[in-house]
Amino acid sequence: MTVPSWSLPALTGSKFNLANVSHKIDALASGPMSLFDYIGGQFDRSVGWRDVEWLAREWNGPLAIKGVMTPEDARRSIASGASGVIISNHGGRQLDGAPAPIDQIEAVRTIIGDAADVICDGGIRRGSDVVKALAQGATACSIGRPYLYGLAAGGAPGVDRLLTILRAEFERTLRLAGINDIAAISRRHIRNRLSSPIIG
Ligand SMILES: Cc1cc2nc3c(=O)[nH]c(=O)nc-3n(C[C@H](O)[C@H](O)[C@H](O)COP(=O)(O)O)c2cc1C
Repeated sequence: MTVPSWSLPALTGSKFNLANVSHKIDALASGPMSLFDYIGGQFDRSVGWRDVEWLAREWNGPLAIKGVMTPEDARRSIASGASGVIISNHGGRQLDGAPAPIDQIEAVRTIIGDAADVICDGGIRRGSDVVKALAQGATACSIGRPYLYGLAAGGAPGVDRLLTILRAEFERTLRLAGINDIAAISRRHIRNRLSSPIIG
């Protein structure tokens, strides 16, 4: 409420809406099915690796499988025709005890080698996080909530600003670490977290 440029449109603007499926609401309003039932019904739980193979053949272009967390699933993704994996726990919104994607990068990279893309998705909040992910073998990082925060706070210019901030932080981190080329970022630029507390 202290930011009227946000709160006034939020109060007086149109209501929250699932834009991709809202056109279904009219059709569903008279029936027993809720919109969320409808969305749930759109997921095909039988999708498997053979579908990935089919998709890769049909698409014949860069294909990244999102939601991969283990080296074995990463290996199967590439073996099934994907050109990369997006290591992701979907922002920890589904299973809050899942490992952080950034902690899975090294194991995934070791299994699938240098050729495939490894995108680290989730928990990236600062430019230095991107440096840490690249140092462990990520090709790139992706974000979810940060751009939504920028969008909520300032519309499209807010998203631009968020990206400008992330980029400035990334470049500053490189300078402070003495790295003058993204390709030179390596494991030696980061240190391991202590896995257990020091006693005494
Ligand atoms: C509101 C919201 C809706 C999302 N919906 C989906 C979705 O339908 N499918 C999906 O794979 N990930 C979904 N995600 C996860 C994001 O694509 C992304 O993996 C995640 O937000 C990255 O973590 P971060 O928010 O920490 O950057 C959603 C995230 C948010 C915040």
